[in-house]
Amino acid sequence: MTSIKLEFDEKNADILIWNGKVVMSRTEEPYFKAIFSRLKYLKPNSVLEIGFGLGISAGLIQKYMAPRLHDIYEIERSIYIDLERFVGEHPSVRPHLGDWKRCSITQQYDFIFFDPFHYSVEGELDGDLSHEEWSTVRAENAERMKALLSERGVLCHPHFGDGEVPDLPGFTTTIVERLKVSPIRMADETYCEDAAVIFHQPITD
Ligand SMILES: C[S@@+](CC[C@H](N)C(=O)[O-])C[C@H]1O[C@@H](n2cnc3c(N)ncnc32)[C@H](O)[C@@H]1O
Repeated sequence: MTSIKLEFDEKNADILIWNGKVVMSRTEEPYFKAIFSRLKYLKPNSVLEIGFGLGISAGLIQKYMAPRLHDIYEIERSIYIDLERFVGEHPSVRPHLGDWKRCSITQQYDFIFFDPFHYSVEGELDGDLSHEEWSTVRAENAERMKALLSERGVLCHPHFGDGEVPDLPGFTTTIVERLKVSPIRMADETYCEDAAVIFHQPITD
């Protein structure tokens, strides 16, 4: 079983807080609107989304991109129930329960929106990862996602702040736009007003 059941400190239509950390907040909605309205020209037929959260990106992908197929993977069981509800109103969405890394995903997609959350407990095994461990995880994820993208596929993820956009091994990076956004409530309860619309594309040999 690759799914988990968590006790959230707060869980409603606007906020998810677990272990004192903001997993997702509706304050991200204006930024996400900017992402999908800018990228709708891509017109992907098939979309893979990692992490349902509050379903904000899922709703915007449906609205702006209207893919023929929209697969969503969600690891947490109560959030998965919200995803099942969402599916009722969006027939092109297929829900999947589990850790995306441990699910057998056989299909390739035109667009991936990658927005999971690392449920870590400080001081415990598999707690907060060191910089080197994050780099390894990032490289492994990049390799997995490359295999899941069609040849001209696009991988997108949120980028907060006005800092450098880190390269992803095996991918090009495109910064579509840097923008000021209404304050976003971050995991550590700080607020962020800078973000960027970015995407990566696989480098073909
Ligand atoms: C930041 S939220 C996603 C927010 C979402 N994009 C939205 O617009 O509301 C992260 C989500 O990813 C889920 N998640 C975390 N790790 C995951 C994994 N390995 N596989 C699938 N889902 C995962 C979390 O349970 C949570 O629902």
